[in-house]
Amino acid sequence: MRHAYWRLCVFLLIAVWPLYWLYQAWAFALGPDPGKVLVERLGLGTLILLLITLCMTPLQKLSGWSGWIAVRRQLGLWCFAYGVLHLIAYAVFILGLDWSQLAVELQKRPYIIVGAIALFGLLLLAVTSNRYSQRRLGKSWKKLHRLIYLILPLGLLHMLWIVRADLEEWAVYAVIGGLLLMLRIPVVMRRIPRLKGRQAETSNKPEING
Ligand code: HEM
Repeated sequence: MRHAYWRLCVFLLIAVWPLYWLYQAWAFALGPDPGKVLVERLGLGTLILLLITLCMTPLQKLSGWSGWIAVRRQLGLWCFAYGVLHLIAYAVFILGLDWSQLAVELQKRPYIIVGAIALFGLLLLAVTSNRYSQRRLGKSWKKLHRLIYLILPLGLLHMLWIVRADLEEWAVYAVIGGLLLMLRIPVVMRRIPRLKGRQAETSNKPEING
Protein backbone atom coordinates (compact mmCIF):
# COMPACT_ATOMS: atom_id res chain seq x y z
CA MET A 1 0.00 0.00 0.00
CA ARG A 2 1.35 3.45 -0.94
CA HIS A 3 2.35 5.83 1.86
CA ALA A 4 1.84 3.08 4.46
CA TYR A 5 4.15 4.66 7.07
CA TRP A 6 2.70 8.11 6.53
CA ARG A 7 -0.83 6.74 6.96
CA LEU A 8 0.23 4.93 10.12
CA CYS A 9 1.88 8.08 11.54
CA VAL A 10 -1.29 10.10 10.89
CA PHE A 11 -3.38 7.34 12.48
CA LEU A 12 -1.25 7.23 15.62
CA LEU A 13 -0.97 11.01 15.88
CA ILE A 14 -4.76 11.39 15.92
CA ALA A 15 -5.61 8.26 17.92
CA VAL A 16 -3.33 9.28 20.77
CA TRP A 17 -5.14 12.49 21.77
CA PRO A 18 -8.40 11.08 23.20
CA LEU A 19 -6.36 8.46 25.08
CA TYR A 20 -4.07 11.16 26.47
CA TRP A 21 -7.05 13.28 27.56
CA LEU A 22 -8.63 10.26 29.24
CA TYR A 23 -5.35 9.64 31.04
CA GLN A 24 -5.26 13.31 32.11
CA ALA A 25 -8.83 13.04 33.43
CA TRP A 26 -7.87 9.88 35.34
CA ALA A 27 -4.79 11.67 36.76
CA PHE A 28 -6.92 14.67 37.90
CA ALA A 29 -5.03 16.93 35.50
CA LEU A 30 -8.10 18.44 33.82
CA GLY A 31 -9.27 20.71 36.62
CA PRO A 32 -12.40 20.53 38.74
CA ASP A 33 -14.75 19.54 35.87
CA PRO A 34 -12.82 17.02 33.73
CA GLY A 35 -15.96 15.79 31.97
CA LYS A 36 -16.72 19.25 30.58
CA VAL A 37 -13.09 19.69 29.51
CA LEU A 38 -13.23 16.34 27.67
CA VAL A 39 -16.42 17.39 25.88
CA GLU A 40 -14.82 20.69 24.86
CA ARG A 41 -11.55 19.14 23.68
CA LEU A 42 -13.33 16.50 21.61
CA GLY A 43 -15.64 19.16 20.11
CA LEU A 44 -12.70 21.35 19.17
CA GLY A 45 -10.89 18.25 17.88
CA THR A 46 -13.85 17.50 15.58
CA LEU A 47 -13.79 21.01 14.14
CA ILE A 48 -10.00 21.06 13.71
CA LEU A 49 -10.03 17.65 12.00
CA LEU A 50 -12.74 18.90 9.65
CA LEU A 51 -10.55 21.87 8.71
CA ILE A 52 -7.46 19.67 8.32
CA THR A 53 -9.40 17.27 6.07
CA LEU A 54 -10.43 20.18 3.87
CA CYS A 55 -6.77 21.24 3.57
CA MET A 56 -5.72 17.99 1.88
CA THR A 57 -6.87 18.68 -1.68
CA PRO A 58 -5.42 22.22 -1.84
CA LEU A 59 -2.16 20.91 -0.33
CA GLN A 60 -2.00 18.14 -2.93
CA LYS A 61 -2.62 20.64 -5.70
CA LEU A 62 0.02 22.99 -4.37
CA SER A 63 2.73 20.43 -3.69
CA GLY A 64 1.87 17.67 -6.15
CA TRP A 65 2.48 15.13 -3.35
CA SER A 66 -0.11 12.35 -3.38
CA GLY A 67 0.44 11.63 0.35
CA TRP A 68 -2.05 14.37 1.24
CA ILE A 69 -4.80 12.56 -0.66
CA ALA A 70 -3.70 9.20 0.76
CA VAL A 71 -4.70 10.32 4.26
CA ARG A 72 -7.78 12.35 3.30
CA ARG A 73 -10.33 9.61 3.86
CA GLN A 74 -8.74 8.60 7.13
CA LEU A 75 -8.83 12.20 8.36
CA GLY A 76 -12.49 12.56 7.45
CA LEU A 77 -13.36 9.36 9.27
CA TRP A 78 -11.39 10.50 12.29
CA CYS A 79 -13.32 13.76 12.25
CA PHE A 80 -16.55 11.75 12.43
CA ALA A 81 -15.10 9.48 15.16
CA TYR A 82 -14.12 12.52 17.27
CA GLY A 83 -17.65 13.87 16.75
CA VAL A 84 -19.11 10.60 18.04
CA LEU A 85 -16.73 10.64 21.03
CA HIS A 86 -17.76 14.27 21.66
CA LEU A 87 -21.41 13.17 21.71
CA ILE A 88 -20.66 10.19 23.98
CA ALA A 89 -18.67 12.41 26.37
CA TYR A 90 -21.60 14.85 26.44
CA ALA A 91 -24.10 12.04 27.14
CA VAL A 92 -21.96 10.56 29.91
CA PHE A 93 -20.42 13.60 31.63
CA ILE A 94 -22.97 16.38 31.12
CA LEU A 95 -26.25 14.53 30.67
CA GLY A 96 -25.20 11.78 33.10
CA LEU A 97 -27.04 9.33 30.80
CA ASP A 98 -30.25 10.73 32.26
CA TRP A 99 -32.30 10.79 29.04
CA SER A 100 -35.33 12.21 30.85
CA GLN A 101 -33.31 15.46 31.06
CA LEU A 102 -32.75 15.64 27.30
CA ALA A 103 -35.77 17.88 26.57
CA VAL A 104 -34.74 20.30 29.35
CA GLU A 105 -31.14 20.20 28.07
CA LEU A 106 -32.22 21.03 24.51
CA GLN A 107 -34.07 24.08 25.81
CA LYS A 108 -31.13 25.11 27.96
CA ARG A 109 -28.54 24.42 25.24
CA PRO A 110 -30.25 24.82 21.82
CA TYR A 111 -26.81 24.80 20.16
CA ILE A 112 -26.87 21.02 20.70
CA ILE A 113 -29.48 20.72 17.92
CA VAL A 114 -27.11 22.53 15.55
CA GLY A 115 -24.25 20.20 16.59
CA ALA A 116 -26.48 17.16 16.14
CA ILE A 117 -27.41 18.20 12.57
CA ALA A 118 -23.72 18.72 11.78
CA LEU A 119 -22.88 15.31 13.23
CA PHE A 120 -25.66 13.68 11.22
CA GLY A 121 -24.15 15.28 8.10
CA LEU A 122 -20.76 13.86 9.03
CA LEU A 123 -22.39 10.44 9.46
CA LEU A 124 -23.82 10.61 5.93
CA LEU A 125 -20.42 11.53 4.51
CA ALA A 126 -18.67 8.83 6.54
CA VAL A 127 -20.97 5.99 5.46
CA THR A 128 -20.78 7.00 1.80
CA SER A 129 -17.06 7.63 1.82
CA ASN A 130 -16.18 4.30 0.18
CA ARG A 131 -15.77 3.53 -3.51
CA TYR A 132 -18.80 1.25 -3.51
CA SER A 133 -21.11 4.14 -2.46
CA GLN A 134 -19.40 6.44 -4.92
CA ARG A 135 -20.12 3.99 -7.76
CA ARG A 136 -23.71 3.30 -6.64
CA LEU A 137 -24.66 6.93 -6.08
CA GLY A 138 -23.06 8.13 -9.32
CA LYS A 139 -23.67 11.86 -9.84
CA SER A 140 -25.69 12.16 -6.63
CA TRP A 141 -22.57 11.25 -4.68
CA LYS A 142 -20.93 14.56 -5.54
CA LYS A 143 -24.09 16.44 -4.60
CA LEU A 144 -24.28 14.59 -1.30
CA HIS A 145 -20.69 15.43 -0.49
CA ARG A 146 -21.45 19.11 -0.99
CA LEU A 147 -23.01 18.72 2.47
CA ILE A 148 -19.63 19.84 3.70
CA TYR A 149 -20.72 23.41 2.79
CA LEU A 150 -23.44 23.03 5.40
CA ILE A 151 -21.61 20.95 8.01
CA LEU A 152 -18.70 23.32 8.51
CA PRO A 153 -20.85 26.47 8.99
CA LEU A 154 -23.11 24.48 11.37
CA GLY A 155 -20.07 23.37 13.37
CA LEU A 156 -18.88 26.98 13.51
CA LEU A 157 -22.34 28.22 14.52
CA HIS A 158 -22.47 25.57 17.26
CA MET A 159 -19.13 26.82 18.59
CA LEU A 160 -20.08 30.51 18.26
CA TRP A 161 -23.21 29.87 20.33
CA ILE A 162 -21.03 28.41 23.08
CA VAL A 163 -18.11 30.83 23.13
CA ARG A 164 -20.32 33.91 22.59
CA ALA A 165 -18.21 36.80 23.91
CA ASP A 166 -14.84 35.10 23.50
CA LEU A 167 -14.72 35.58 19.75
CA GLU A 168 -11.01 35.62 19.01
CA GLU A 169 -10.40 31.87 18.82
CA TRP A 170 -13.69 31.31 17.01
CA ALA A 171 -12.81 33.96 14.42
CA VAL A 172 -9.55 32.12 13.59
CA TYR A 173 -11.44 28.89 12.82
CA ALA A 174 -14.15 30.78 10.94
CA VAL A 175 -11.64 32.59 8.69
CA ILE A 176 -9.70 29.38 7.98
CA GLY A 177 -12.97 27.53 7.32
CA GLY A 178 -14.24 30.29 5.01
CA LEU A 179 -11.00 30.25 3.01
CA LEU A 180 -11.03 26.44 2.70
CA LEU A 181 -14.63 26.43 1.50
CA MET A 182 -13.79 29.14 -1.04
CA LEU A 183 -10.90 27.04 -2.31
CA ARG A 184 -13.39 24.29 -3.13
CA ILE A 185 -15.19 26.49 -5.65
CA PRO A 186 -14.00 25.07 -9.03
CA VAL A 187 -13.00 28.48 -10.48
CA VAL A 188 -10.90 29.21 -7.40
CA MET A 189 -9.55 25.65 -7.22
CA ARG A 190 -8.28 25.87 -10.82
CA ARG A 191 -6.27 28.94 -9.88
CA ILE A 192 -4.21 27.18 -7.22
CA PRO A 193 -0.68 27.10 -8.59
CA ARG A 194 0.74 23.60 -8.97
CA LEU A 195 4.29 23.77 -7.77
CA LYS A 196 5.21 20.44 -9.31
CA GLY A 197 2.72 20.65 -12.14
CA ARG A 198 1.20 17.25 -11.37
CA GLN A 199 -2.51 16.67 -11.88
CA ALA A 200 -4.73 16.26 -8.86
CA GLU A 201 -5.03 12.49 -8.71
CA THR A 202 -8.20 12.07 -6.80
CA SER A 203 -10.06 15.33 -6.60
CA ASN A 204 -13.20 13.34 -7.36
CA LYS A 205 -12.73 10.98 -4.44
CA PRO A 206 -14.90 10.87 -1.32
CA GLU A 207 -14.66 14.16 0.45
CA ILE A 208 -15.04 13.20 4.11
CA ASN A 209 -12.35 11.19 2.85
CA GLY A 210 -11.27 14.57 2.05
C1 HEM B 1 -25.00 15.60 18.82
C2 HEM B 1 -23.90 16.30 18.57
C3 HEM B 1 -23.27 17.28 19.50
C4 HEM B 1 -23.52 17.58 20.82
C5 HEM B 1 -24.55 16.96 21.75
C6 HEM B 1 -22.59 18.61 21.22
C7 HEM B 1 -22.53 19.18 22.48
C8 HEM B 1 -21.57 20.09 22.90
C9 HEM B 1 -21.43 20.59 24.24
C10 HEM B 1 -22.35 20.23 25.41
C11 HEM B 1 -20.36 21.42 24.26
C12 HEM B 1 -19.75 22.12 25.48
C13 HEM B 1 -20.46 23.35 25.87
C14 HEM B 1 -19.87 23.95 27.13
O1 HEM B 1 -18.66 24.17 27.20
O2 HEM B 1 -20.68 24.20 28.01
C15 HEM B 1 -19.83 21.46 22.92
C16 HEM B 1 -18.76 22.22 22.54
C17 HEM B 1 -18.23 22.24 21.28
N1 HEM B 1 -18.62 21.45 20.21
FE1 HEM B 1 -20.21 20.19 20.18
N2 HEM B 1 -21.79 18.92 20.15
C18 HEM B 1 -22.16 18.13 19.08
C19 HEM B 1 -21.61 18.12 17.81
C20 HEM B 1 -20.52 18.85 17.43
C21 HEM B 1 -19.92 18.82 16.12
C22 HEM B 1 -20.38 17.96 14.95
C23 HEM B 1 -18.87 19.70 16.15
C24 HEM B 1 -17.89 20.09 15.06
C25 HEM B 1 -18.14 20.09 13.77
C26 HEM B 1 -18.80 20.26 17.47
C27 HEM B 1 -17.88 21.20 17.88
C28 HEM B 1 -17.84 21.77 19.14
C29 HEM B 1 -16.90 22.80 19.51
C30 HEM B 1 -15.85 23.43 18.60
C31 HEM B 1 -17.15 23.11 20.86
C32 HEM B 1 -16.48 24.19 21.70
C33 HEM B 1 -15.25 23.68 22.38
C34 HEM B 1 -14.64 24.76 23.24
O3 HEM B 1 -15.34 25.39 24.03
O4 HEM B 1 -13.42 24.94 23.11
N3 HEM B 1 -19.82 19.73 18.23
N4 HEM B 1 -20.58 20.65 22.11
